[in-house]
Amino acid sequence: MSHDFFKHKAGSYEQENHRVANVENIARSVLNSIEFNASMRIMDFGSGTGLLLEKIAPSVHTMSAVDISRSMNEQLERKRSDLSCELEIIELDLSQSILGRKFDGIISSMTIHHIEDIESIFGKFYSMLNEGGFIAIADLDVEDGSFHTEDTGVFHFGFDRAEMKKIAERAGFKQVSITTASTVHKSQGDYSVFLLTAQK
Ligand SMILES: C[S@@+](CC[C@H](N)C(=O)[O-])C[C@H]1O[C@@H](n2cnc3c(N)ncnc32)[C@H](O)[C@@H]1O
Repeated sequence: MSHDFFKHKAGSYEQENHRVANVENIARSVLNSIEFNASMRIMDFGSGTGLLLEKIAPSVHTMSAVDISRSMNEQLERKRSDLSCELEIIELDLSQSILGRKFDGIISSMTIHHIEDIESIFGKFYSMLNEGGFIAIADLDVEDGSFHTEDTGVFHFGFDRAEMKKIAERAGFKQVSITTASTVHKSQGDYSVFLLTAQK
């Protein structure tokens, strides 16, 4: 994905109830699965308007929000003063580059289906974590392609859980666990969402 597919969506992104409800479910699941603490520096990959990170913010020190989309980053910037942690916004296509820094954890919601090379992105996650760091990655289970009704740069119609587990393990992650975090109810159907957690 090399350009801003979310340019025309960013302003109205949070007006879809199913979207907000889905990320609330994901955030609850992340908070139940991970022990955060007030010194942690966390990266949110594909942070968008910040629906996920704003829920995790009260439990950590710093959120580094990584997103390729300037328009989504601008929406997030508006929330800065309401967030209960430090916020750093990094405009970056992580599929094309890497950050030469390390984090205590990486969270991500509904983003990796926009990434063509999943093996490579898990390798990058691993290299950007401190020892003992974690990932908490939520995205769609395999779907029939009907989830997206607009072109937002989709490379995967969801993911097979067993395959995801293998990819995470091949990247070096341990204690890989996958649970159901949410179900998105759309007029054309219901779509389940998994949460994968693992440790470096
Ligand atoms: C469906 S939105 C999810 C936003 C947010 N995490 C949420 O759950 O509401 C996917 C986001 O991933 C971003 N994204 C897609 N590909 C990316 C890439 N290669 N590098 C960084 N961000 C990317 C998009 O710009 C978009 O903001």
